[in-house]
Amino acid sequence: MTEPATNVYIAGVGAYTPERVVTNEDFEKTLDTSDEWITQRTGIKERHYVADGQVTSDMAFEASKKALKAASLEPADIDLIVVATATPDMVFPSTACLTQAKLGAADAVCFDIVAGCTGFLYALVTASQFVKQGTARNALVIGAEILTRFTDMTDRTSCVLFGDGAGAVVLKPCGPERGIIRSLLGADGTLARLLDMPAGGSKMPPSHETVDQRLHVITMQGRKVYVNAVKAMGDSIVKVIEDAGFQGSDLDILFPHQANIRIIQSVAERAGLPMEKVFVNIQKYGNTSAASIPIALAEAVEAGRVDEGMLVGMVAFGAGFTWGAALIRW
Ligand code: UT7
Repeated sequence: MTEPATNVYIAGVGAYTPERVVTNEDFEKTLDTSDEWITQRTGIKERHYVADGQVTSDMAFEASKKALKAASLEPADIDLIVVATATPDMVFPSTACLTQAKLGAADAVCFDIVAGCTGFLYALVTASQFVKQGTARNALVIGAEILTRFTDMTDRTSCVLFGDGAGAVVLKPCGPERGIIRSLLGADGTLARLLDMPAGGSKMPPSHETVDQRLHVITMQGRKVYVNAVKAMGDSIVKVIEDAGFQGSDLDILFPHQANIRIIQSVAERAGLPMEKVFVNIQKYGNTSAASIPIALAEAVEAGRVDEGMLVGMVAFGAGFTWGAALIRW
């Protein structure tokens, strides 16, 4: 336990995406789909898939090493690891513990957060409370997913959407001049059934029947998810901006969850932001769920698109349903 912090900032960012690239043309060979449909309806051109044997904590480990390097820290400096994932290595132990072991971050408290595609924002906000309170000084927040192991590759309405990857950030205490200004999280569990993986938990443990009935894959009512995502992401980003006393035009860059380019465009319009201020990389990675915002952040930082003093927004929506937004003075 150290002194409570005035604020919490992102001191380092890193990402990892697996080597194998699957293009829309690859799907044309096995499914009744087309590059034109996928590009126009989603904005996705390609996505990355893990190699056989590669697990979620492997990607979390790779992204974390880069984030630690960027923050000039060693694994031994980390006292908290939070992994946001809906696709953990196994039901238990947590992917955070498995990542800790790979990193050798012996002094870290470790746990996972499940909030679907909003997972990174849930983890960021949760970990920042530890740092703010002084319970942790250097926190590692990771979004890591292997959605492609839980995708029905014969279902054209979902399989073209997802990709694998991980992103990580290091949180540290700071003064009032920078850091997380405002955040908002929300959930509506009454709509859980619209986006879920029915089997594999205590409700429907794995059995020959659950496998035969293809219940261990993502099921999604895409249209309904779309409509809810547009509303919740739009409402959330507008609310954090207004609550913090800003206007949409004050934002320097927005990192929306990358699920569908049309959702991203609607959210930008709602927030009054031109698309030049919205970071988009969905064409390269598809929907990587909890990993999408930190992967985007790492790319943007590397490309020099995020500078100290900038007002940065983040917004996401996912299974649960869950949603969230955050405003950060970089
Ligand atoms: O990460 C958070 C959670 N996920 C999301 O935010 C995803 C939200 N949903 C979406 O992005 C969109 O709803 C989808 C991309 C999933 C679907 O796009 P849509 O414009 O909502 O299409 P739709 O589901 O209304 O389907 C329109 C048509 C259907 O054909 P019919 O019934 O009109 O003949 C689908 O069967 O498009 C067909 N379709 C496809 N056609 C070619 C659906 N998927 C494909 C496909 N290729 N891959």
